[in-house]
Amino acid sequence: VLAVAGAGCTGTADQTDGAGLKDSYIVGIDAAYPPYSYIDKDGNAQGFDVDSMKWIAEKKGIKVTFMDVDWDSIIPALQAEKIDMVYAGMTITPLRLEAVNFTDPYWTVNQDVVAAEGSDVTIDDVLAGKVIIGTQRGCTAALWIEENLIETGKMPEQNLKLYSETPLAVNDLTSGRIDAVMYDDVSLKDIVRGTSVKVIGSVDTQEDFGVAIRKGDTALLEFMNEAIAELQADPYWEELKEKHNLK
Ligand code: ARG
Repeated sequence: VLAVAGAGCTGTADQTDGAGLKDSYIVGIDAAYPPYSYIDKDGNAQGFDVDSMKWIAEKKGIKVTFMDVDWDSIIPALQAEKIDMVYAGMTITPLRLEAVNFTDPYWTVNQDVVAAEGSDVTIDDVLAGKVIIGTQRGCTAALWIEENLIETGKMPEQNLKLYSETPLAVNDLTSGRIDAVMYDDVSLKDIVRGTSVKVIGSVDTQEDFGVAIRKGDTALLEFMNEAIAELQADPYWEELKEKHNLK
């Protein structure tokens, strides 16, 4: 776990549950999720979500530090108070809502599926569970595949390959070790840019992103709901979408 960007606080997040707001917050991100959150070559946190949080911090006079956490353990890190929130394209799901709270939705995505440029794998092969598919461990694409392909008996469990981050799945795709990759549409298109893969189809999951906050930390939840609404009403919101190529 690497602390990146921003002033102040690098230690453990203070206990705030039930209390008011703090001066500084540790924001959990996953660094392999362009264009929402990623680490640039100088080690700085960048992206649509990162810029959103920086705007909020500046506007509201709080300090934020971004911390890169493995996606699969980011909710446990939030619960263990290593971070104060997850602002990294996290889909609001019923299962996650049992563990944490979410702000109001601020973005929506679907799932895209890619295959190698020269391959003849079709989206129908994928949806029939016939090919080996990769994605990030703990993400909603993995959940979708488990619920719709494995649990329904269409696909053997070993056809799903899980990676700590999606760029590693794309490497295995381009080197022929797997047949397809499924992931959040905008981010997958960004990750595969410049590689020899093509989008073969998509699954209309209509997932809403929210910022995840510890249960009980209602002061922060209210603060973030207000702040995100302010951001979305500000001209900067459109600028941000353009900067990060989001429509
Ligand atoms: N939206 C998907 C999910 O909630 C994938 C998000 C991945 N985000 C990330 N920072 N790696 O599971």
